[in-house]
Formats: sequence, C-alpha cells, structure tokens
Amino acid sequence: MFKPSLRHTDMEGKITVKDILGLKNKRKITMLTAYDYPLARLVDNAEIDIILVGDSLANVVLGLDSTKKVGMPEMLHHTKAVQRAVKHALLVGDMPYDAYQLNPEDALNNAKRFMEEAGCDAVKVEWFEQCLEVSRKVIKSGIPVMGHIGLTPQTAEKIGGFKVQGKDAEAALRLIEQAQALEKIGCFSIVLECVPDKLAELITKKITIPTLGIGAGKYCDGQALVIHDMLGLFDRYTPKFVKKYVDLSPLISKAIEEYKEEVVGGEFPDVKHSFGIKEEELKKILNEKTV
Ligand code: KIV
Repeated sequence: MFKPSLRHTDMEGKITVKDILGLKNKRKITMLTAYDYPLARLVDNAEIDIILVGDSLANVVLGLDSTKKVGMPEMLHHTKAVQRAVKHALLVGDMPYDAYQLNPEDALNNAKRFMEEAGCDAVKVEWFEQCLEVSRKVIKSGIPVMGHIGLTPQTAEKIGGFKVQGKDAEAALRLIEQAQALEKIGCFSIVLECVPDKLAELITKKITIPTLGIGAGKYCDGQALVIHDMLGLFDRYTPKFVKKYVDLSPLISKAIEEYKEEVVGGEFPDVKHSFGIKEEELKKILNEKTV
C-alpha cells in the first residue's frame, strides 16, 4: 500500500496561496497556531503548511478571558516574532475583533499592516454581519483572505455561546451559504470550527477552495489546532476536539521544581556551569589594598 512521506517534499521552498489551493483533493493540509519565535521555528521545521498567528493569543498566551480583548498592537508584536522564524509555511495573521468588526472601515488598513509590517502572506477574518463586504474589499486590494465560519469566538454571544454550530437543517444551510459566498468573493480557504463532521464533509464537497477543520471532523481538506492545546501547555479548559500529542505542563513543572531545589540546596551551579579565572590573576586581585 502506498504510504505518503511524512516530509512534504512536494512543497519545496516557501508555500504560497496557490500551493494551498492546489492541495485540495491531493493531500490533507496542516495548520497550527504559533505566537512566538521558538515555537514558530519548531512548527516551521516540521514543514507544517500554514502557521496562523491566531487571536487565541489572548487566551493561551496573554491570560485573557476573551479573544475580543486582544488588539492590533499585540497581534502585530507577536506576528513579527513568528515571521522571523518562518522559512517554509504560509503565514496567516488573524484579524482581531477591533481591527475590522468594531469599525469595518478600518479593515483594509489593518489587513495591510499585517502584510507590510508583520510580513504575513494572508489574513483570516471571522464571519460576522459585514464579513462579505469587508473580505471583498481586502481581497480586491490583493490581500489573500482565509474565511472562518461555524463557531466564531469573536461573536460567540450572538451565536448562542461556545457551542457546536449547524446542528439543525436551518443552521446548517446557513453555514453552507456562508461557505459558498466566501468562495464566490475569492477567499482561498475557510476554517470550519465546531461543526458536525457530516456537515463539514458536505461543505468541503460543495466548494472548490480548501476547508480547514478544527472540531469539524475528518472530512475537511485540512486540520488546524492551537499549539498550546496540542502540546499540553494550556490547561484552563480543553475542548473535546483537542488531541494532546504531548503533555508538557507536568514536565516543565518538574524541571522548575528541580531547579528550585538545586539552587536552595547549593547544587546548582556546579563547576561545569561556572567560569574560571587564572590563579595568578586571582592573586593580583587579592594583593590589591582595596580588596
Ligand atoms: O485564533 C485561533 O487560534 C483560531 C483557530 C481556532 C483557527 O482562529
């Protein structure tokens, strides 16, 4: 049986929006979030296709209780750090709430800032009332847009909270319409967050641009996860769709405990971790009257 290589040798060099579009029906697309240089380097070295600097920054890095509380200054600051590490992946900046929903007139200018100041290849826009209008304007200016439908955390209070979306026929048809409208205006991909797997399959089959699922089952064209969730670095809450590939928190806690014990116990630093000085230089210092 043919087993595809884990290394994506089909993707030499920097990945483009065109490459992502070309992957539909060829192989599954991978997307992870990153918010800083060291983790972005690891994600990029692993040849993940898309790195999203998500506004989940608010929750998993900044300790805030809502993605609505993160703004352009924080998003640009972290995106710039990620960009310094990215050599391979397509870099997508997540437009925070106040960049386009507070005043849709600001959307284009803020999308340009993600591209010009933070070196992004594309931006992501969550569905809201004026989503099509805003996204159309951004796309017309030449900036690629990734859509995001289903559970849209920036407008969670308007869609019944942090719940699976599209569970009845009426709501499901609305999501299908949204996906088709986003495809029509020229989005290059769509995140489907927290929707039933069979609905995600239907949407994926109905549109020609890739779907990226997070809590949307296995039939999407690709998958996304928040890196702190899959590494076990965020334990305030864990959604059902998260798979922890490693649980780093206990390992980090153990290392910190060991450090504390060794410092208090005088075991650290030892000679191996210290710098020496020649005896003769030490003698000269000790012979100085001031010492
Ligand atoms: O902000 C984020 O991390 C996201 C992902 C859930 C897709 O939007």
